[in-house]
Amino acid sequence: MKRSVIRGTGRAVPSRLVTNEDLTKIMDTSDEWIRQRTGIEQRYWIPEGEELGASDLGLEASKKALDLAGWQAEDLDFIIFATLSPDIMFPGSGCLLADKLGLNSTPALDIRQQCTGFLYGLATADAYIKSGLASKVLVVGAEVHSTGLDKSTRGRDVTVIFGDGAGAVCVEGIETDENVGVIASCLHADGSGADSLMVELPASRLPDRMPKDLPADDPRYFPSMDGKKVFKKAVRKLPEVTKEVLEKADLAIDDVDMFFPHQANLRINQAYGQFMKIDESKIFNNIQRYGNTTAASIPMAFDEAIEQKLVGKKNDTVLFLGLGAGLTWGGVLYRFA
Ligand code: ACO
Repeated sequence: MKRSVIRGTGRAVPSRLVTNEDLTKIMDTSDEWIRQRTGIEQRYWIPEGEELGASDLGLEASKKALDLAGWQAEDLDFIIFATLSPDIMFPGSGCLLADKLGLNSTPALDIRQQCTGFLYGLATADAYIKSGLASKVLVVGAEVHSTGLDKSTRGRDVTVIFGDGAGAVCVEGIETDENVGVIASCLHADGSGADSLMVELPASRLPDRMPKDLPADDPRYFPSMDGKKVFKKAVRKLPEVTKEVLEKADLAIDDVDMFFPHQANLRINQAYGQFMKIDESKIFNNIQRYGNTTAASIPMAFDEAIEQKLVGKKNDTVLFLGLGAGLTWGGVLYRFA
């Protein structure tokens, strides 16, 4: 039977380290507030004045993943790029990344599922592999948030949580009778919650996509979030989807060696662990150092955990899960081959 196994992982962040203390110099916030509410201590942002898009960070992460897999870019037969902050409105960052990798005909697909983007990407790669449409797929999650944030006090609730970064994985189809690779996926979306986390402008639904006479700092150009609503939804939906994906795979919670929740807020992941009665040591968190890197957060965390040798042995079983804008949520169970 065809199975989708991960052959290599990589991550990248820009060079500019931004601490909570740095943010206090541009808006009314404090290190204490940010740490207590979110767990975040620092994040990386694109250096001021530099032109770097999601595909540039994605390229760096992809090169590392390709190296670890022992693949050349030419070996890829599909690229999936998850981002909410594409380099430009169109074409998609997947096309731009393929070009930067020196490819000129490899198919490339963008996924706009925000914090769940990597889960949708991995599940899509698995489906392409199992259907025979592809056998060596690059899945990338990459974000440049920092150039689109409201860095005044008005935007502080959202701005302090977001960081820039990229994560990538090389996924290969293999023939095996073992229950390894992507063993189950569950994906969900509920657009009725779209306005609880969104960037409203520019908007193609308007007669004028960028309404005239609006100031460049109109709040609708920046992300807005009903933080409490999203928080509550996450704390409810993450346990639900965990149960759903475990049932699908016929596994129990104790069969999972490490949990990789999306890094949106340390308190969400702690509440999830307490509710599910999962030992803290089994929930991987790195939001303290990177902030919320949206589609990049899960592959970045996974790459770091492999580097730290916390996971990676044959039959180690991990659960990727997340909830974010859309609203979208999901879980993917993966077992090392
Ligand atoms: N610094 C200081 N004070 C602040 C800040 C800040 N950065 N931000 C907000 N405040 C103030 C508010 O103005 C408010 O003040 P008030 O009581 O005088 O009115 C007070 O702090 C409390 O604000 P809340 O918004 O109620 O704070 P909350 O505890 O809800 O924390 C947070 C906000 C961190 C955003 C939280 O709601 C959260 O993490 N929500 C979930 C986020 C999430 O999971 N997003 C999904 C992923 S992202 C994606 O998909 C793109």
